[in-house]
Amino acid sequence: MLEILIVDDEPEIANALKKFFTRKGYAVRTANDGEVALELVKEHRPHLVFLDIRMPGMDGLKVLRNIRERDRSIKVIMVTAFGTREIVSEALRLGAVDFVRKPFTMDYLEHEVIAKVNVQLFEDLRNEIEEKSLLIEQLARLNKRLSRNFYQTMLSLAAALEGRDQYTHGHSERVDLYCRLIAEELKSRNGVKITNRFLEDLHIEARLHDIGKIAVPDMVLNKPDRLNSEEVEEIRKHPGESARILAPLEGIKENIEVIYSHHERIDGNGYPERKSSDRIPLRARIIAVADAFDAMTSDRPYRKAMDEETAFEELEKNRNSQFDSDVVDAFVGVYRRNTLAREAREQEVGL
Ligand SMILES: [Fe+2]
Ligand SMILES: [Fe+2]
Repeated sequence: MLEILIVDDEPEIANALKKFFTRKGYAVRTANDGEVALELVKEHRPHLVFLDIRMPGMDGLKVLRNIRERDRSIKVIMVTAFGTREIVSEALRLGAVDFVRKPFTMDYLEHEVIAKVNVQLFEDLRNEIEEKSLLIEQLARLNKRLSRNFYQTMLSLAAALEGRDQYTHGHSERVDLYCRLIAEELKSRNGVKITNRFLEDLHIEARLHDIGKIAVPDMVLNKPDRLNSEEVEEIRKHPGESARILAPLEGIKENIEVIYSHHERIDGNGYPERKSSDRIPLRARIIAVADAFDAMTSDRPYRKAMDEETAFEELEKNRNSQFDSDVVDAFVGVYRRNTLAREAREQEVGL
């Protein structure tokens, strides 16, 4: 509630003002001299003070000076029956925001005084809002910068990771490219609603999907033979590790969920949560196909790369068990079309 302090040595005037402002819904305190007024200011920090100039003991100007020294945010309106020019300019110089004249009529209080109070309190409120929105803006900017820095750091980490695993060089970049092709194909072929935001999210997720492999020991990651069951378990921890690494980043909960789910299978036999069909986010289903295709067509420590046609057959064989069938169809379709287009272009150049 907005608090007003009324300082006047004439109790009738202080009480009349108190009654008036209380009726208007303000919390009102009164003081009959300067010392009590300063005590109340110290204790309650009112939003607004009505301050009589002529008072025995500490006069209004002295009280004003004290209030301003203590807290410059408190608004002070001077009350005077003797508003000489010098006193008025001195009070303004000391920081008073306005004047009201005694004696008051009800009409004067209702129209002019209330207007003056509203202007001052509105100003207070506005400053407060401006300060807060400035702060929010600064925080948002900082957050954005931090997020960008964090994302860049994660990308470097992903690149470092792929450098460490000699067989997956460029893996996340290729997965990123395949994901984009699939998303655009799903949009044009199946009418799936793919927004720019969806594509941006998918890009981040594809690039960072295996970041958790940073926690997998080198000897497992680069093992030249097939992995034993313990080592497979070790590898299967990477979606959880990705989620753990990215967790401190604000505002990417959904991205983390997608990354965490990129090894789930439509039939519920994937990991880490054994989620099935629609419970797996669409972007995770897209990454799963892009990821598997790139893994199959890259040399692995324990086998040579498959050719593209064999990899397509594998994807098609696992439609509806491991993979989302629409995603497989979209990928095979768009990849074949792009290959044909590339070959046609190469032939044209050859001619
Ligand atoms: Fe993975
Ligand atoms: Fe991967």
